[in-house]
Amino acid sequence: MIQRNDPCWCGSGKKYKKCHENFDRKLTALKLRGKQVPPHRLIKNEEDLKWIREAGKINTAVLDLVGEKIHAGMTTDEIDQLVYNYTIEHGATPAPLGYEGYPKSCCTSINDQICHGIPDDTVLKEGDIVNVDCTTIYHGHYADASRMYCIGEVASNAKKLVDVTKECLEAGIAAVQPWGNVGDIGAAIQTIAHDNGYSVVTDFCGHGVGNGFHEDPYIHHVGRKGTGMVLAPGMVFTIEPMINEGVPSLFIDADNDWTSYTDDGKLSAQWEKTLLVTEDGVEIITG
Ligand code: MF3
Ligand code: CO
Ligand code: CO
Repeated sequence: MIQRNDPCWCGSGKKYKKCHENFDRKLTALKLRGKQVPPHRLIKNEEDLKWIREAGKINTAVLDLVGEKIHAGMTTDEIDQLVYNYTIEHGATPAPLGYEGYPKSCCTSINDQICHGIPDDTVLKEGDIVNVDCTTIYHGHYADASRMYCIGEVASNAKKLVDVTKECLEAGIAAVQPWGNVGDIGAAIQTIAHDNGYSVVTDFCGHGVGNGFHEDPYIHHVGRKGTGMVLAPGMVFTIEPMINEGVPSLFIDADNDWTSYTDDGKLSAQWEKTLLVTEDGVEIITG
């Protein structure tokens, strides 16, 4: 049993009574009311957050750079080179490279590819919509984000899907509140997707992130308000809705075992950010 004058379990170096004692009281009360509460290992301390924020800055700069350079006629391998070089030059590491055998530094998912497109000699062409997903490791800490890029003029349905998917992410972020629930996020996202006649991919989720690449909890992109794990200050996770024009079902490329495609060949879009739950709201870790 931790004593009030003991050092806090979070690793801050402060006394428990001056750090997470009240936090634990809240968790205990919520638990007694039948809520699922986060384990202490999911609560980041200021030292973790310092490096996670730095990883977030590099990650944001990488996605900005991709936005400046991406154009019709470019290969997805060239995007990967940009991501790799910028990340390394800034003292960071691209998390995907070598992760569970993944061969490249980012994911580039085009049109009906939902996620985990692997950069190769594919040439981007006018009208494509492309997701570039980068995860940056800095000083052992992670930040994960992705954006959609439109190549030249894209069809109006493609543009709308890209814009509504961004709205879904923003609504998910706006639903994050300290002492709220994971289900609040999915509820907000699915409302916007369904109101626009789109479907939400449920085979992939957002996730805790920061001290590792994929941590608990899963952040579902569908859900019911007031359900799921409690969101406590100090939790860091991604929201990364994948929204389809047609059916939500998918298949995985049998050759590379990574890339997922919509079952019906219709378009899919995704935006992702890393977020921190704060005492009074949410802090966006990646731009
Ligand atoms: N960045 C992806 C995510 O948002 C994960 C990619 S795994 C990789 O969770 F190995 F393909 F990089
Ligand atoms: Co992610
Ligand atoms: Co990602």
